[in-house]
Amino acid sequence: MSTRRLRGSAAHAEPAPTEPIVEFAEVTPYEQYVGVRELQALVRTVTDHPAEPSFLVVTQVMELWFTLLRREWELAQRCLRVDDLDGAVAAIRRSVHHLRSLNASWGSLMWMTPTEFNGFREQLGEASGFQSYEYRHVEFLLGLKAESVVRPHRALPAVYADLQRALAGPSLEDDVHAFLAGRGLPVPADVLDRDRTVPHDAHPGLTALWAGIYGDPRPGNELFVLGETLTDVAEEFTTWRQRHVTAVRRAMGAKPGTGGSAGLAWLERSAARVVFPDLWAARTEL
Ligand code: HEM
Repeated sequence: MSTRRLRGSAAHAEPAPTEPIVEFAEVTPYEQYVGVRELQALVRTVTDHPAEPSFLVVTQVMELWFTLLRREWELAQRCLRVDDLDGAVAAIRRSVHHLRSLNASWGSLMWMTPTEFNGFREQLGEASGFQSYEYRHVEFLLGLKAESVVRPHRALPAVYADLQRALAGPSLEDDVHAFLAGRGLPVPADVLDRDRTVPHDAHPGLTALWAGIYGDPRPGNELFVLGETLTDVAEEFTTWRQRHVTAVRRAMGAKPGTGGSAGLAWLERSAARVVFPDLWAARTEL
């Protein structure tokens, strides 16, 4: 792991041993590390409407959570590829907590009425969360693949290439399947060889495999713990999508979206897509 030493940490003049350091020869190490001025400079509202700053900041904060989720799940994938189940479960467990914090952020927007949203909505032009590429990485890692959502990003070659790679590459779900196969479990060959650019539907062979694992629901069964941690992820991510739908219903009713979709009806369809379908289908078998 790379480390970055912060300048100025030794530049203070002999502080009293029990009091915080208040003398710095340079910008505080905190500012060097966190970059508060850079963060503040990014809060570029397009109107003076008092409702807009929370809309922008919550959106930016959510983008950071998306990035964190992506890091955790990509780490989990690397762990699974070297049969490090503990490392993978630790990363996925952390992500469940990140998802809960992400979901709590909706609280900062739920007060917004249509009149307040209308106060700045026009100025957003065609900007829409639909164009969030970090959200697409999150979806792709969860197996919700679609070529069409990559297209908006052609004008940013590095972002576009990254998304194309994620579309064609294994999702976290695909890595879990490969890991289970590596442990000698009967993962169907057509699941391992599937077209990764499209979502995976529940497969009877995998559903039966998970049902078998869930037959021993004790913490000592590490594959059961993996299944439950993934189920937590699926549940919390679904909660994000449901809270988004509710926020949209509160703030703009059933009007079309700035991104060109039908709005609420389109979002409800999108939110209904199932994450980790076999883990849900297995419950019917038990
Ligand atoms: C009350 C505030 C919000 C409203 C009214 C709203 C509205 C909408 C609408 C109507 C869509 C459908 C696409 C379109 O035609 O524009 C959409 C999609 C989306 N929005 Fe929001 N949004 C809000 C807040 C947010 C926030 C804070 C985020 C965080 C990044 C966000 C992220 C997304 C994403 C990722 C999509 C695509 C969802 C998908 O593909 O299933 N939205 N939003």
